[in-house]
Amino acid sequence: MSSTLPRKSAALLVQRVVDQGVSLGDCLSAELDRFDDRRQRALVQELVYGTLRWFHRLDAILGRLLSRPLKRRDRDLHALLLVGLYQLLMLEMPAHAALSETVEVARQLGKNWAAGLVNAVLRNAQRRSDELLQAVNALDSARWSFPEWWIRRLQSDWPDDWQPILEAGNRRPPMVLRVNLGRIGRDDYLEQLRSAGIEASASALADSALQLRQPVAVEKLPGFAAGLVSVQDAAAQLAAPLLQVADGQRVLDACAAPGGKTGHLLEQAPGLEQLVAIDRDATRLQRVEQNLQRLGAGGRARLLAADAGDPAQWWDGRPFDRILLDAPCSASGVVRRHPDIKLLRRDADIPVLARAQLRLLDALWPLLAPGGMLLYATCSVFKQENSELLQAFLARRADVRESALPRDLGRPQAIGRQLLPGEQDTDGFFYARLQRI
Ligand SMILES: C[S@@+](CC[C@H](N)C(=O)[O-])C[C@H]1O[C@@H](n2cnc3c(N)ncnc32)[C@H](O)[C@@H]1O
Repeated sequence: MSSTLPRKSAALLVQRVVDQGVSLGDCLSAELDRFDDRRQRALVQELVYGTLRWFHRLDAILGRLLSRPLKRRDRDLHALLLVGLYQLLMLEMPAHAALSETVEVARQLGKNWAAGLVNAVLRNAQRRSDELLQAVNALDSARWSFPEWWIRRLQSDWPDDWQPILEAGNRRPPMVLRVNLGRIGRDDYLEQLRSAGIEASASALADSALQLRQPVAVEKLPGFAAGLVSVQDAAAQLAAPLLQVADGQRVLDACAAPGGKTGHLLEQAPGLEQLVAIDRDATRLQRVEQNLQRLGAGGRARLLAADAGDPAQWWDGRPFDRILLDAPCSASGVVRRHPDIKLLRRDADIPVLARAQLRLLDALWPLLAPGGMLLYATCSVFKQENSELLQAFLARRADVRESALPRDLGRPQAIGRQLLPGEQDTDGFFYARLQRI
């Protein structure tokens, strides 16, 4: 079976992320749909995710292999060469496959003239791999395969931990399930997985979490379509229990799409008086209802496509007992799952995000009933989006106190607790629980 087409698709996807700033979420699935063969789809995914994960290293190496940068109109070749280098240097694929198929893609791109160049660059890379890797290791960005600004931010925020955080960001993420505990016990579901030949183990962090030894297609999971389990990292599974939702409460899920945590809130407390789930993105909001339907909770949340930061547009004036603010953030804690973030995010985005997060907090706080609780969550590891922002919020309000989180949860911060990526093999998450007094 020829693997030329998957390599071509991978190169074009890498080019869209790197040069056009398109996120994988917006371009990957349409490209994968072009392939009927499961193995070809898997190859595209492997090549795209891997090339983006190691982009900063591979691009530095490519810079040493080209005598001058390729012209603007040949950025497709640049992306193709990165995909070729990924196969040779990081995947350690058999050289003949990586070489001949990648050269063939150059021809398919209508650039016969470049076949010799692609061949020469890749052969050179193969021959000089040790020397090249050593040379680029002198640059932090190439060594860690992260943007320079990201490394500097982590060094400043986490002077003792920045290296393991970066390493964790480059590892392949595990597939983690959330068992719908209202429907089946975790051990019983583990047994069902075993019977289906799927190896998994219970997570120590979250009562509902099971980590698979190998990722599998969701259709292979027993009872997935019937809502017995969902796919969700163990760190994200802490939100619903930390919010301490209970039947009879009015709950607001302020940034809800695609609804991973909305579903968990209803699993945890099926008898809520009301669950309002808001998201500004109407298209993403549709996925909340789809998720709830699969969990057998269709129609149980009131879904609103609105700006949560402008309650005058949507609030009926009745206070909430609980608010989950799973704020839009840099997603720096989930970069192992979304390596395109390394290319899409800029340092200047972080203060802009922090202002948007603070705006949401300010706008939502008055909606909380006295004694009520708000859980602030991000999947970021940057303090500007987390504890620093909450300190600013607490400093100017007299009616808020921090409600302590379990002491065994991540690292204590000035306010809230941070789960660092890789520790307990989870994504990076920040949580702070605030009570209205
Ligand atoms: C971190 S994601 C939420 C993930 C979700 N809670 C889950 O568990 O599946 C953040 C969401 O906030 C939404 N968002 C961003 N700004 C918003 C705003 N001002 N009002 C409402 N939603 C907003 C984004 O569209 C995005 O879906």
